Amino acid sequence: MSKKYVIANFKMNKTDEEVVSYIEKFKEKVKDFNTEIILSVPFVSIKTASLMVKNSNILIAGQNLNENDFGAFTGEINAEMLCSVGASAVLVGHSERRNHFKETDVIINKKIMKGLRSGLISVLCVGETLFDKKNNLTTQVLQRQITECLNSIYANELSHIVIAYEPVWAIGTGVVATKEEIEGAIKTIRMLLTNLYDEKIASKVKVVYGGSINEKNVKEIKSIKGIDGVLVGGASLDEEKFYKIVSEFNEKGTSEKGTKKVSKKKTIEK
Ligand code: PGA
Repeated sequence: MSKKYVIANFKMNKTDEEVVSYIEKFKEKVKDFNTEIILSVPFVSIKTASLMVKNSNILIAGQNLNENDFGAFTGEINAEMLCSVGASAVLVGHSERRNHFKETDVIINKKIMKGLRSGLISVLCVGETLFDKKNNLTTQVLQRQITECLNSIYANELSHIVIAYEPVWAIGTGVVATKEEIEGAIKTIRMLLTNLYDEKIASKVKVVYGGSINEKNVKEIKSIKGIDGVLVGGASLDEEKFYKIVSEFNEKGTSEKGTKKVSKKKTIEK
């Protein structure tokens, strides 16, 4: 049974002190879990959070990175900086970044490339808007996002990419996509990956769902065929609720240590 990913996205919430108090309580409760747990905390708390989860089964992620190497980009953070404070992963292409900060698939692709080069796991968020859904454009949107965001990414780099299917209309709205919709989108994503790579490779890529997940609906979502975990926003802010969500994905009786920080030295297969 492959490991499940449970990813928290704190967004622009929690002071450093609040992050510390959260991790103090949370870390202890999940210490024997075999789930891949990723906490996407605000930039300013990455260093503290990373030190706190050292040698545990929790990884710390940034919520964004700039696609440039360095230079005159006031207020921005690059991949190297994220790594230097202990981040192992980063969220890319979140709908809030696409919407508020006008990030395009081309920019997102560059961010993934920079992340990969620094050894970061990229959690690539894709998904249709309500307009797209109403106009039956979901497959078309997923096709554009997956194809453009993964442009020039080699098959052996996909082990460092988690795809999060997050329909925009389900984020922060309390409206969860139906089991059929999620299963359909996951199938579409794997079909697109099969076209870009091959079936064997596509079957190994982690695909999770995000959008109004909470401790009550997670059980049903977990039962969806082909799902590898969840990305949680609002409900991850409460450590107790998030613990319950993670518990659902913990495969009982097979306790083992989580993934170690990914190696920065990777060979690219052509
Ligand atoms: P939500 O957010 O769980 O609050 O809907 C999910 C996300 O933004 O990733």
